[in-house]
Amino acid sequence: MARTIAVAIPKGGVGKTTTAVNLAASLAFSERRTLLIDMDTSGAAGLALGLTEANSKAGVYDIFNFISGINTAIHKTEIPTLDVVPANVHTLLREERLMKLADNRLILKNSLRSITRDYDYIIIDCPPFLRGLTTNALTASDSVLVPVKPGHFALDAVDKFFKYIDWVREVANKMIQIEGIVVTMYETGSRATEITMRELQSKYRRHLCETIIPRHAALAEACFYGKPAILYNINSPGAVAYLDLAREIAGDQIPFEQRHIVDESVQAISQQA
Ligand SMILES: Nc1ncnc2c1ncn2[C@@H]1O[C@H](COP(=O)(O)OP(=O)(O)O)[C@@H](O)[C@H]1O
Ligand SMILES: [Mg+2]
Repeated sequence: MARTIAVAIPKGGVGKTTTAVNLAASLAFSERRTLLIDMDTSGAAGLALGLTEANSKAGVYDIFNFISGINTAIHKTEIPTLDVVPANVHTLLREERLMKLADNRLILKNSLRSITRDYDYIIIDCPPFLRGLTTNALTASDSVLVPVKPGHFALDAVDKFFKYIDWVREVANKMIQIEGIVVTMYETGSRATEITMRELQSKYRRHLCETIIPRHAALAEACFYGKPAILYNINSPGAVAYLDLAREIAGDQIPFEQRHIVDESVQAISQQA
């Protein structure tokens, strides 16, 4: 049975898609059979793995319209253990229709039933808002991974989202867990990063992932080539960090170097506190 993890927080530009794509690719790279589902109408996660309008047979749009079953919407990628379901939205009319259909919060959960035995992990990239598509993802998931980009109001978004998850527990999915909060676009020496880290440490320490994702150009560049970072530059700090995140989530050993980076940042924070 697959472990299904939604990557979500109702905020744009915080690294949700980058995290979903690179976590999925890194889990697949360590030989876990992985499926990435692109639930954002912009289609960025599918594009980041090379799926365009021209080469997508079907996607989330078709599943929600009951035009295609999930098997038709599953596409292969360059990594043999990584499959992807693109959004396949492409027009504003389709976007509007998909949003309406997503009011039924059980569609994704029901369509995943037939394939959950085919994968070890299903990773869902969510849109930056809390309407039907995110609720569908949270209803279908075992856990939610929350990316946080350091900055003003970063914690505010986490507070609000955690309240929403409580609501999801009450009405739709009482078993959903917090997989973790993962700090993205970490910048050494940045005051905003330090303040956010300190706030997260004091309020959400038990949810904080040990792995921290640094800000690094290769993570942004890789998308232009339709590749995850591990296929673009496997030695770049961003690719290494996502491999570490995959190890942490899968319960594998985290290499010493990464623990060292985390220790340093935690030390810097506690010295100031
Ligand atoms: N760790 C990182 N280092 C550098 N750029 C990043 C990093 N994470 C994300 N980005 C870039 O920041 C922008 C927003 O990231 P994205 O993953 O699309 O966020 P979201 O899905 O939350 O809107 C994108 O241009 C992406 O390439
Ligand atoms: Mg996104």
